[in-house]
Amino acid sequence: MPEEGGIMSRRPLLAGNWKMHMNIAEAEALASAIVRASIPEDRDVMLAPPYTALAAVGRVLAGSSVMLGAQNVCWEEKGAFTGEISPLMLQDVGCRMVLLGHSERRHIFGETDEMVNKRVAAALRFGLVPVLCIGETLDERESGHTFSVLERQLRSGLKDINPGAGNDLVVAYEPVWAIGTGKTASIEQAQEAHFFVRDLLAGMYEKNIATQMRILYGGSVNSDNVDSLMSQPDVDGALVGGAALKADSFIRIIHFNS
Ligand code: PGA
Repeated sequence: MPEEGGIMSRRPLLAGNWKMHMNIAEAEALASAIVRASIPEDRDVMLAPPYTALAAVGRVLAGSSVMLGAQNVCWEEKGAFTGEISPLMLQDVGCRMVLLGHSERRHIFGETDEMVNKRVAAALRFGLVPVLCIGETLDERESGHTFSVLERQLRSGLKDINPGAGNDLVVAYEPVWAIGTGKTASIEQAQEAHFFVRDLLAGMYEKNIATQMRILYGGSVNSDNVDSLMSQPDVDGALVGGAALKADSFIRIIHFNS
């Protein structure tokens, strides 16, 4: 298994997924508050506002260390794809990262592993860091299928994908039953899933890529549970929904363990 600590240690990433919340003025205010908060230098922060606020938030983040992210990307550059967003458009507003395969995309809007795979490939082609989200539903967990679901989503999401380096791609483990429910995975459940994912990555890629790749936990992360989740050796960051919508709680999450 990949080593921890030392020169191979992974830079924590705290990512806010604003989902379908915030008008432009609200988004600017929240992004400004985060930029003003002094962020420890040893970690990365990313904000994924809705598309309508990307340009405005991008202007607020310009010159700061906070990265702009999007909530999805199309696998085509342009054309008749109503409702989609091009990787060129995301580049144009300064996006550096993109969430892909979020469970709301998969379960509410019917995105398949194949679509997610095409989106991952497109993101990498255009220099955007994909944050590939995977996670089991409650039924899948209770029927003992957690690991087979994670394996299928990971292997098919990354089919024919060769990240150049460990930090060109991020994986987010988000158990669907923990998203927006206030029910967080226990630290043991999170670590077990993250360890499993890293082990799979180690079989798919060179060992140092798996060692460097960040695996975020998502699902009801808040200012009270972030420290214990981040204390787990294979939890390299958090993908935060509800608690990222308020400056105070997200700033506290950014300052985990400090
Ligand atoms: P939550 O959402 O923090 O509100 O559970 C996380 C996510 O969906 O990324």
